[in-house]
Amino acid sequence: MSIRTETTEGVARIEIARPEKKNAITVAMYQQMADAIAAANDDPAVRAVLIHGQPEIFTAGNDLEDFMKNPPADMDAPVFRFMAALGLCEKPVVVAVNGAAVGIGTTMLLHCDFVYCADNAMFSMPFVSLGLCAEFASSLLVPLAAGYHKAAEKLLLGEPISAEEAAEMRIVNRLLPPDEVLGYAKKQAARFNGLPPTSVRETKRLMKSSWKAMTEKVIIDEAKSFGRLLGSAEAKEAFAAFFERRKPDFSRFG
Ligand code: COA
Repeated sequence: MSIRTETTEGVARIEIARPEKKNAITVAMYQQMADAIAAANDDPAVRAVLIHGQPEIFTAGNDLEDFMKNPPADMDAPVFRFMAALGLCEKPVVVAVNGAAVGIGTTMLLHCDFVYCADNAMFSMPFVSLGLCAEFASSLLVPLAAGYHKAAEKLLLGEPISAEEAAEMRIVNRLLPPDEVLGYAKKQAARFNGLPPTSVRETKRLMKSSWKAMTEKVIIDEAKSFGRLLGSAEAKEAFAAFFERRKPDFSRFG
């Protein structure tokens, strides 16, 4: 079991637990997380959702082997179901990030409500270096949060983002010492036990409603490009290079 779930005292906890593969997320794990978020949303006893990884790693993003073997065929694929469940979750979603948050590990944060990270956390969106493109509205939400030019460094060049820079880019709420992140995130999630749930849900909906339609449109646009690029020779070279532990060579592509 690579996803652990548990609901205690009003908080549905979703733990990414595959440390031997740096919490890389497989199709099965996306489906488990999608189901867990949907169940939390439907459970009146749940006031907030908490997502976290291991003390050393949040997630290395998509499991690249699994992703090549089982590429998302359509918008019903588990990765889309997971991100749709996150987008549709009416309850606050709190995330605790320790270690690296790669690819979708950073993208998913853009769709959560509170992001707390270790002061040594590291974020990255290396889609271009993998022969892919921005996903799940990161091409819209990162420029909106951080400004176009900063977003260009992170999405076009795939430059890593330190915890301090993530705070400057306004994609995380707060930096904490590594061993305090999860506890702090849990406390923040538990605060919703003392607040009126309908008001919380309604306020979240209103805060997101202005750019909801635009976000959905961008997600579809990106998904089409991402699907096409996933089958490209450039992506094949990038993925092969990762597993052969070498630098990719894109010199033959025009
Ligand atoms: N997909 C599949 N396997 C992955 C993986 C991924 N995204 N990330 C790590 N792994 C596996 C490695 O293949 C390795 O497996 P092995 O022990 O069977 O050889 C194991 O996890 C440990 O990874 P390793 O790279 O040795 O760990 P590290 O501490 O040196 O580096 C990362 C950690 C996260 C920086 C590094 O693994 C990495 O960059 N991963 C790829 C990230 C990525 O490109 N994600 C896709 C985004 S779309």
